[in-house]
Amino acid sequence: MIPQSFIEELKMNCDIESVVSSYVQLRKRGRISTGLCPFHSEKTGSFTVYPESQSFYCFGCGAGGDVIGFIRRIENLEYVEAIKFLAQRAGMNVPEDAAEDKTALLKTKILEMNREAARFYFSELMAPNGKNALDYLLGRGLEPKTIKHFGLGYAPNDWTRLTDLLASKGYRYEDMEAAQLSRKSNKSGRYYDIFRDRVMFPIIDLRGNVIGFGGRKMSGDGPKYYNSPDTPVFKKTKNLFALNFAKKQKLERLILCEGYMDVIAMHQAGFTEAVASLGTSLTSDQCRLASSYVEEAVLAYDSDEAGQKATKRAIGLLDEVGIRAKVLSIPDAKDPDEYIKKFGGARFKKLIEQSAGSVEYELSKIGAKYDTETPEGKISALKDAVGLLADMKNPLEREVWAAKLARDYGTTKEGILTQVQTKIKRRARAEGNRAVLGQSAQASTFGGAVPEKLRNPASASAEERLLGSLMRNPEALSTVSTIVSPKDFVCELYGLFYEKLLSTLSTGFEVSLTLFGGDFTLEQQGIIAKLANLAREHRYSAEDAAESAKTIIRFKEKKSDKEIGELSGAELAAYIEKMRKAKK
Ligand code: GTP
Ligand code: MN
Repeated sequence: MIPQSFIEELKMNCDIESVVSSYVQLRKRGRISTGLCPFHSEKTGSFTVYPESQSFYCFGCGAGGDVIGFIRRIENLEYVEAIKFLAQRAGMNVPEDAAEDKTALLKTKILEMNREAARFYFSELMAPNGKNALDYLLGRGLEPKTIKHFGLGYAPNDWTRLTDLLASKGYRYEDMEAAQLSRKSNKSGRYYDIFRDRVMFPIIDLRGNVIGFGGRKMSGDGPKYYNSPDTPVFKKTKNLFALNFAKKQKLERLILCEGYMDVIAMHQAGFTEAVASLGTSLTSDQCRLASSYVEEAVLAYDSDEAGQKATKRAIGLLDEVGIRAKVLSIPDAKDPDEYIKKFGGARFKKLIEQSAGSVEYELSKIGAKYDTETPEGKISALKDAVGLLADMKNPLEREVWAAKLARDYGTTKEGILTQVQTKIKRRARAEGNRAVLGQSAQASTFGGAVPEKLRNPASASAEERLLGSLMRNPEALSTVSTIVSPKDFVCELYGLFYEKLLSTLSTGFEVSLTLFGGDFTLEQQGIIAKLANLAREHRYSAEDAAESAKTIIRFKEKKSDKEIGELSGAELAAYIEKMRKAKK
C-alpha cells in the first residue's frame, strides 16, 4: 500500500492540465480546457479538463477521473505503476513496501527471461537443429527478412534446453515457471521447457517488451497452437499481436485477422496495419484498445463457417466501441495468408478496398439465405432485412438502406420504413417501459455498471445527485451521514461510493477523485467523475445533498402497491402520515 498522504502530495505536484498537455493539445475555455480525446478517435473536442477539481471527463466516450486515472489509461498502467510514473515525473520518491517491490522485480525478471528466450529461439531457428522449422516457414512463403523482423524462432524438440540456459544465467526455476517458460515435473521434480518442437511467435507490447509467445507445433500431439498463459506481464485478452508494428505509422484503419501467419503474410505484402487477437476470439478489451488508434477496422477472418461466425461477433463488439467494421470476403482461399500466396498483394489490396461495410455484408448474407426469385423467398428476406434496419440507431442510415432494399426487391422505400417503425415499437414494448420513463439515454450510459438504475431510475438519480453534491460540498457529509446510510442505496455501486466518502469522516482524507483510485475500476472512476462534473454544472449545494438524502429515504420507505394492499387499516394510516411528513 502506498500511503494516501503520499498520493495527495503527489497530486499537488502533478497539475492535471500540465500532465494532460503532454499528451493532448488543450484549448482554454474559461475555467476549463478542452481537446481531442486521446481515448477514442474523434474530430470534435469532447475531452474536458477541469483544473478546479483536478479531473477530466470525455463526453464522447465517458472516460473520466483524476490525474492518476488519466495516466493509467494513456500509459496503460496499473494503479501503482501509474503513481510511480507520475512520481518520477515530479521527481518524488515513492515509499514502497516489500511486497510491491517483489512483484515489480518479478515482472522485470520475466521480461528479461522472455527476451533471453526469444533470442534463444531465434538462434535455434538459424542453427542446423532448426532446419525443418526454417524450411517450414520459408515454404509458407516468408522471406528471411520477415522472419527476422518478427523475431520468429524455434523451440527445439528437447526437454530442458531453455530451462538449462536460463539457469546458467542465474534465473530461478520458480521465476521461469512464473514466466510460463518452464514447468515442474510431478514425477522427477525437475523443471522442463513448456514450448518444445514449435515454431515460435514472440508477442511484443507497445513498449517493445517481449511479453509472451505463441507456438505452432511441428509434429507430435498437443494443440496446433499453444499460447503463453497469462503471466504478471501478459494478459492475452488485452493485447493484439503485431500492434507494436502497426502503431509505427499513422493508422487509418486496422485489419483484424484470425492468426499469426495471416498477420505476418500481410505485413510482408505491405499491409502493416494487420493485427490479430491472441489465440482467443476477439475481446471487448482488445476492441477498446483498437479504438484508441482507429475508427475503422477491416475484418479479414477465415472464409470457413467458424470465421464467418467470428466476423459477426466482432462486428457487434467493434460497434460497441464506435469502430466502423468492414468485412473482407476472401474468394477462392481459406484465409488471407493463402489468398496472398495464390493471387498476390496487389489483388489483396483490391479486396480490401472493395470490402463491404457491415450492413452490406449482412444484407448480402440475407439475400443468399433465401431464394429471392420466388415471392415467398423475397418476403422472408425482406423480413430479415427489416430486423436489421430496426437495429440501426441513425434514422438517416435506415432511410438509405431502405431505399437500396426497395430497389433490390422491387418494393417501396416507404413500405419498408413503415415495417421498420412497427418493429422498433414492438421491441420497445417488449423491453418494458424503460424508454417511456425518459431515462433510457441516461440509464444506458452506465448500463452495465449500475444495473439497478433501469428499474429504479428516480431513486438512482437521487443517489447520483447526492454523490455529486457531496463531491462538491464535502462539508455536508456529516449532516448527510445522519440521514442516510450506504445500505439505503438502491444502486450497489453508488452505495460503495457513498461508503468511501463516509470513510473520510474518520480518516480525515480529502474528498477528491483520488479517493476512488485504489478500490474502483477505471470505468467506475469514470462514473464518479461524471457525477462530480454534473454537480458542478448544476451548481449543486450542500442543501441539495441533504435534499437528495431525504429523497433516497423516501423511496426506500415507499412501499409497493402490493405491499400497501396487504397493510391493515391502522398500518395504512400510519404509513400515509409518514409519507406526508417525509414530503415536507
Ligand atoms: P496454419 O496456417 O495451419 O499455421 O494456421 P492458421 O494460421 O491458418 O491458423 P488457424 O486458422 O488454424 O488458427 C488461427 C489462430 O487461431 C491461430 O493463429 C491461433 O492464434 C489460434 N489457434 C489455432 N489453433 C489453436 C489451438 O489449437 N489452440 C489455441 N489456443 N489457439 C489456436
Ligand atoms: Mn487460418
